[in-house]
Amino acid sequence: MNKRFEGQVAIITGGARGIGEGIGERIAREGGTVVLFDVLADDLQKATETFYNQGLKVGTMRVDITDDKGVKAAIDEVVEQHGRLDIMVNCAGVAGPNAIKITDYSYEDFKKVVDINLNGSFLMTKFSIPHMLKNNYGRILLIASIGGKEGNPGMSGYAASKSGVMGLVKGIGKEYAQTGITVNGLAPAVIATPMNLDTHPDTMAYMTSKIPMGRLGTIEETAAISTWIVSKEASFNTAFVFDLSGGRATY
Ligand SMILES: NC(=O)c1ccc[n+]([C@@H]2O[C@H](COP(=O)([O-])OP(=O)(O)OC[C@H]3O[C@@H](n4cnc5c(N)ncnc54)[C@H](O)[C@@H]3O)[C@@H](O)[C@H]2O)c1
Repeated sequence: MNKRFEGQVAIITGGARGIGEGIGERIAREGGTVVLFDVLADDLQKATETFYNQGLKVGTMRVDITDDKGVKAAIDEVVEQHGRLDIMVNCAGVAGPNAIKITDYSYEDFKKVVDINLNGSFLMTKFSIPHMLKNNYGRILLIASIGGKEGNPGMSGYAASKSGVMGLVKGIGKEYAQTGITVNGLAPAVIATPMNLDTHPDTMAYMTSKIPMGRLGTIEETAAISTWIVSKEASFNTAFVFDLSGGRATY
């Protein structure tokens, strides 16, 4: 296995399970020091065991990415402990209500989904960049969704929040384009993870039927493209939202 991330420090939010855990594991296998942020204490513990069983070291912190003071303190602590920050991948996210029309979608739920998916992405990026600027190097990846590009019906909060994440990527990427920091996004179609266990079967059937390859993506496929985006090799890509959709997105 390559050692693309030797000597580098990465924070992965939503790292206790699913896509975040998969990306974190691959970075650690390739030599990086990885710290997983999540709100799920039990899953963080399980993830730690998965890493240790493979001989990989990992740090975990209970962090709610919507808490601005907590986010800043946690990122500062990682840099204090490990001396630098090279990579920040924001995977923390929620699907929120689905298979319901906007008229039945509560404002409270809408605000909660936007707070985690969009405001959390803003905070994680805002407080990571100052540390990356110290070395004039950084790789930021915000996980958006095909739902933010095309809009899946029945999930207005999710679609709106993920479109917002794509706007963040495009704007902030340009703000830092003259530095060594890149800011990119990824817009996956459905990936087989615990997130989808709560998704209504009708919504799952709709989303899967839209994928020309006729199957869900895997965590390994998501980690493969994500780790390239946050590697040194990806040096002429910024402010871009990459595709991972089995042929669904052709733009
Ligand atoms: N699975 C898919 O089909 C799919 C498709 C497109 C995009 N995505 C996006 O990929 C990302 C990862 O999704 P996943 O499928 O691995 O989901 P998941 O539910 O398995 O993992 C998401 C993680 O985020 C954590 N999280 C939620 N709110 C948090 C908060 N406030 N602070 C810190 N952590 C928090 C959860 O505890 C969980 O561990 C999400 O942003 C999701 O929207 C997923």
